Amino acid sequence: IKRLAVLTSGGDAPGMNAAIRAVVRTATHHGVEVVGVRRGFSGLHRGDLRMIGPRDVANTIQRGGTVLLTARSKTWRTPEGRASGAAHLREWGVDGLVVIGGDGSFHGGYYLQQEHGVPIIGIPGTIDNDLYGTDHTIGYFTAVETALGAVDRLRDTGASHERIFVIEVMGRHAGHIALEVAVAGGAEEVFIPEDPKPVDGVVQIVKDSVAKGKASSIIIVAEGYPGGAQGVASAIEAGTGLETRVSILGHIQRGGSPVSSDRVLASRLGEAAVYALMDGTAGVMVGRVNGEVIHTPLHETWERRKDVSRDLYRCAKTLSI
Ligand code: F6P
Repeated sequence: IKRLAVLTSGGDAPGMNAAIRAVVRTATHHGVEVVGVRRGFSGLHRGDLRMIGPRDVANTIQRGGTVLLTARSKTWRTPEGRASGAAHLREWGVDGLVVIGGDGSFHGGYYLQQEHGVPIIGIPGTIDNDLYGTDHTIGYFTAVETALGAVDRLRDTGASHERIFVIEVMGRHAGHIALEVAVAGGAEEVFIPEDPKPVDGVVQIVKDSVAKGKASSIIIVAEGYPGGAQGVASAIEAGTGLETRVSILGHIQRGGSPVSSDRVLASRLGEAAVYALMDGTAGVMVGRVNGEVIHTPLHETWERRKDVSRDLYRCAKTLSI
């Protein structure tokens, strides 16, 4: 391989820059040139490509977001969109493409490889931690820290007013962020899409908490839980009459400087992605499982569901007495 391209796609995640940097520097170290694609598949379709080198990624490892910019592309879902992207890669003499993103981005890469033979390597970059084939995705650790900081602050005001706080965290269809934040934040209850239990149970939990002497409670809800935080809060107010507030943390969870675990994960996976292409591997995601870098076929990353830790779920319950 003489020249590879790299792009970030879908929702940005803290640590994406560290992954880009690792790809660029590993490639350069081994004499492989790098083309940066701006705005993900949308930019690839339009031909927004440029050569990038090690100095272009200087001073980026600590920055949130993505210096290559990102987008969610509708055009890429059409065969014509992918054909024009493949043509741009041929024009630029690119022998392989590194896609940093989540399952939507991997779908995009998968079809590009199937239809046009472009070797693809995926790097898991999403705060949701919802990809099979890696214990953690890049951005997840930072998002958890950011959400946890917010929960701690909300606890201060909740305790002072003796209110119930229902806090919604991101995760689209997954409860990984919610569960981690619930345990680390000492929440009374957590609602995740992986266990769509009826919302009514929360009424008894809050009543029991009050009976045990807790004047305020923290309830964490993953955005993918049916009805979201608003549904849970309405059930609490209707069933207990207690003053309840909803806080939806939203995109704040996607920003900020990546914590060390995300930077290190991104650095290792960025390096591994280039080695995979150099070895002639294609159509896989590089991930880290039990500390080892492994390869998982791209389609398995979304076809096989990564469950939340059931042990941690039980732990959240046990510790909430
Ligand atoms: O996949 C990352 C994520 O932040 C999800 O947690 C969330 O559901 C979604 O992206 C939000 O997407 P957008 O930024 O397009 O509103």
